[in-house]
Amino acid sequence: MTTYDIGLIVGSISSTSINRRLARALTKLAPQADLRLNEIPIRNLPFYSADHDSAMPADAANFKRAIEAADAVILVSPEYNRSVPGVLKNALDTASRPWGDNSFDAKPSAVIGMSIGAIGTAVAQQQLRTILAFLASPTLTQPEAFLQSREGLITEDGVVTDDSTTDFLITWLKSLHEHVAHAIRTSA
Ligand code: FNR
Repeated sequence: MTTYDIGLIVGSISSTSINRRLARALTKLAPQADLRLNEIPIRNLPFYSADHDSAMPADAANFKRAIEAADAVILVSPEYNRSVPGVLKNALDTASRPWGDNSFDAKPSAVIGMSIGAIGTAVAQQQLRTILAFLASPTLTQPEAFLQSREGLITEDGVVTDDSTTDFLITWLKSLHEHVAHAIRTSA
């Protein structure tokens, strides 16, 4: 099977982020699905302004080029107040501009997230899907991945301590591989 390079955007800049743990877990499990995952950091992105359109700041320009270089992008995000965290929305707005230079255009994507709430980021993910649809990014539809955190489920360095969660994440990554292969085949 073809191995694809996948960019990983984590929608939390917290030093104790459970979604960063989830991102590390996906990175460890990815080779089993013929995927190579590498983070595309958003921490240093400036707040997007239309003033940047004529000359993107270097961090923003590098961020856009990293998305364009990847075969697909995974958004791993918490939910903040039943919505998308501001840092992630800012990153997506940055990627989308200047007009006519949308880095997500035709770029396959997937959304996944973990929260302490019972519905595991479902509302934020739905809003992310709306944004990605507007950006013309074909997004993995199934399986959906709403994960509820509990103490010890994923270690700091990304080891998943529960077999059913491990199996689910591998299945999800395999579905992403099929999605990327299909998207690339049909756009060629
Ligand atoms: C939250 N949290 C949260 N959880 C949830 O399931 N739905 C929500 O709408 C919110 N809203 C929310 C807002 C703000 C400002 C914070 C700081 C937190 C709780 C959230 O799931 C928990 O803090 C996670 O640990 C956040 O993910 P990271 O940053 O640890 O990856």
